[in-house]
Amino acid sequence: MGNAHPTDLDTMTTHLRSDYTPFPYDIPTTDLLFDLKPELTTVTLWLEFERKNDEPVPLVLNGEHITLQFISLNNEETPLDPSEYTVTDSTLTLHNPPESGMLHIITTCTPNTNTSLSGLFTTGVHLMTQCEAEGFRRMAYFPDRPDVLSTYTVELIADKAAFPVLLSNGNLIETRDLPNGGHMVTWHDPFPKPSYLFAVVAGQLACLEETITQDGAEKLLQVYVEPHDLPKAQFAMDSLKASIRWDKARFGLPLDLERFMIVATSDFNMGAMENKGLNIFNTKFVLAHPETATDVDFEGVEAVVGHEYFHNWTGNRVTCQDWFQLSLKEGLTVYRDQEFSSDQLAEGLSPDAATSARAVKRIDDVAMLRTAQFMEDAGPMAHPIRPNAYEEINNFYTMTVYEKGAEVVRMYETLLGRDGFRRGMDLYFKRHDGQAVTCDDFRAAMADANQADLTQFGRWYEQAGTPTVRVTSEFDANAQTYTLHFAQSNPPVGIELKEANLIKAPLHIPLRVALLGTDIDTLIELKQANESITFENITAEPTPSLNRNFSAPVSIEYDYSDDQLATLAATDTDAFNRWDAVQQIFARAIVADMLEPVFSHEQFDTFRSLLTDESLSPAYRAQLFTLPSFSYLAQLVSKCEPLDPQKLFAARERASRALSKQLQIEWQSLYSTLEPKTAYAYNGVAAGERALRNLALRHISSAKPDTTTTQYAAADNMTDRIAALTTAIHEGQDEALLNDFYNRFEKEALVIDKWFTAQAANPHDANITATLQKLLAHPAFTNPNPNRLRSLVFAFCNANPAHFHATDGSGYRFWAEQVLAIDAKNPQVASRLARTLEQWRTYAEPYQSLMREALQTVFNAPNLSQDVREIVGKALG
Ligand code: PHE
Ligand code: ZN
Repeated sequence: MGNAHPTDLDTMTTHLRSDYTPFPYDIPTTDLLFDLKPELTTVTLWLEFERKNDEPVPLVLNGEHITLQFISLNNEETPLDPSEYTVTDSTLTLHNPPESGMLHIITTCTPNTNTSLSGLFTTGVHLMTQCEAEGFRRMAYFPDRPDVLSTYTVELIADKAAFPVLLSNGNLIETRDLPNGGHMVTWHDPFPKPSYLFAVVAGQLACLEETITQDGAEKLLQVYVEPHDLPKAQFAMDSLKASIRWDKARFGLPLDLERFMIVATSDFNMGAMENKGLNIFNTKFVLAHPETATDVDFEGVEAVVGHEYFHNWTGNRVTCQDWFQLSLKEGLTVYRDQEFSSDQLAEGLSPDAATSARAVKRIDDVAMLRTAQFMEDAGPMAHPIRPNAYEEINNFYTMTVYEKGAEVVRMYETLLGRDGFRRGMDLYFKRHDGQAVTCDDFRAAMADANQADLTQFGRWYEQAGTPTVRVTSEFDANAQTYTLHFAQSNPPVGIELKEANLIKAPLHIPLRVALLGTDIDTLIELKQANESITFENITAEPTPSLNRNFSAPVSIEYDYSDDQLATLAATDTDAFNRWDAVQQIFARAIVADMLEPVFSHEQFDTFRSLLTDESLSPAYRAQLFTLPSFSYLAQLVSKCEPLDPQKLFAARERASRALSKQLQIEWQSLYSTLEPKTAYAYNGVAAGERALRNLALRHISSAKPDTTTTQYAAADNMTDRIAALTTAIHEGQDEALLNDFYNRFEKEALVIDKWFTAQAANPHDANITATLQKLLAHPAFTNPNPNRLRSLVFAFCNANPAHFHATDGSGYRFWAEQVLAIDAKNPQVASRLARTLEQWRTYAEPYQSLMREALQTVFNAPNLSQDVREIVGKALG
């Protein structure tokens, strides 16, 4: 559907957290009848309402892109008189409703023309819904807000040949054939839920199913996919079973329904959706088979299956009062899925190997946070994990709400201990099961269950920006004391800059600190802007290991000498900080002297011994030797000077080449010793070996170009095959491999996405403009779904800095064209792409002016969606 609501500045509405008022009616039951047809679906609603207070008040329902066909009260056959209600393009208002009653409303909508993937839409030969955040209102008039919980009964009618599978939330009540080839299925969900958790699926899907027993009760687990994808569904099923076991074991939380269903679709804006008992997934996070999915894909499936399943308690049983509280469910659920993945990686390993496997997961998560979330926190979209204002809620499904939100949850665990955290969770469910609550309620449960004072901790929900903790040290050899001074600061960012008289008070920061060379390893709770701590009986100056395991989502500034970084890299027992020390050595060399990044002989010695240290897991060594990302380095540069992306990119390349050259012997020997001895299996250890070997491949490929082609041909799995393909084409090797790859996997959409990405993100393609034009015109790019757009357009704009930042501005003009083209069909995806240029102010000329021009082009375009307008407006504003 196009933008039926052309927006301009006058019609922009800002939603404020402080405006919250409860809905004046209860909606005990909601009965729905869907007559499902792709061109025109009819939705009949019976809405039971009961006024909460004595005072009469209008009943206002949300509704968008739907057509009212009939409305009556209490099942009367005569429709309501038009004077009794008003319909606008976003509401239906009943002016003088009785104190209680039953509204009967019939509406129609058009799934075939709905390209936004919100509401009811067609995907292939199927029909599906997506309701979070505000999609339900595209099917029926309803109080479409998360604090209205209702018990749903749903009848689905459809042609049986076209739509043999008819699913909705909860338990299956009845199936019945109708005359003329139709059929009807009834579902009832016993748990009251908000409308955003509602779902319907109608289609021709194959199903993998298993039953499990939990607490003596049988549960039916189903994974629905396209019939030809059935061989790729088992890993998702295994992940689901593992998630169910884990939530019971770790948090005592059972599966509360008789059946739990997962449905995969290739047309999806996000990763997946936690609809009650009927999770709907992007195929990318369901389908996994060694020949088509990489280790990273397997890991993603496991994490997302876990994430959506864990929402059943954190999100569904206890939900959000309003969308400002989004992090209540998302931050907590991300924390839970991170813990689940960590436990899965550690399972079956020796204690030491388990600790190291957990560190690998932690490093992955923090590296992403520090790259993407820190960047968000430093730009025009910066917001607290609980925002105070938004124009379009879809723009607030952010790294901050999700990933920083998860770090805030993790800090409770750090402060209260694992048992204390569990006590807090238990109390949270005891108090709030079946309710729609706030982040403050969660914090109160954590505090009350532990008699802890978490008042100051609440500021993590109020302030945007990444706090900086500046640390200095003093060693007094005579007194044998070592003192650490901490200064925390967090200047206003993003929209905070516009708030007059804003005072940002100090945060409660749990900082794990050890002094290398002593046995001191302690948790320091910072609460003031400036504080100091003195350690006694310190005979030699130690090296401080600060914010171990990234105990707080802050940026630490301490002036380490090169020697101290080498000490941390060689000896820190905290695997996270050891990794971080190596990253700092890399970053320093790249950023400090962008013209001539050089590593000293001593540094190469450090690198060499780390790379060949067999006591370190291959997975960990692969992380140690992955250079800090371009975006992470860009942040470091822009703290000191306007960013020249070409200069930075070249400096990073030089550092990478230096590692290839100086460690060539080691890379080559790793490549051969890590040669797989058994057939492919997905597990953390094997994945780590492949990751390190494929990193080695990149470092040896220009010296030994045949290795890539040999590996490509011999690969029995996608991880090794795509690594070889990407390395080969980035080395400028011929098109034969690309063509072979395409022909082999032509029918596998998710693999063809990888084919597009390998080319769009190629930093060494001298004719990238021609390549892009060729790819855009490729038959596989007609009517691209969001995954395909991400594989080409996003891959170029976000993952190919060398070409995106072309000095003639062509990359930015491409961006503007694509934002506008996508916005006409799918505003949510367009506004994600729109965020690419929000850092424009940190760039040097000519980049900065060229970026502003591109932003202005988008901003001036007619019929811009509210989604894109908010992003671009804030970037320019
Ligand atoms: N709630 C989903 C999740 O995090 C994400 C999502 C949001 C999906 C909005 C679709 C639409 O699991
Ligand atoms: Zn989620």
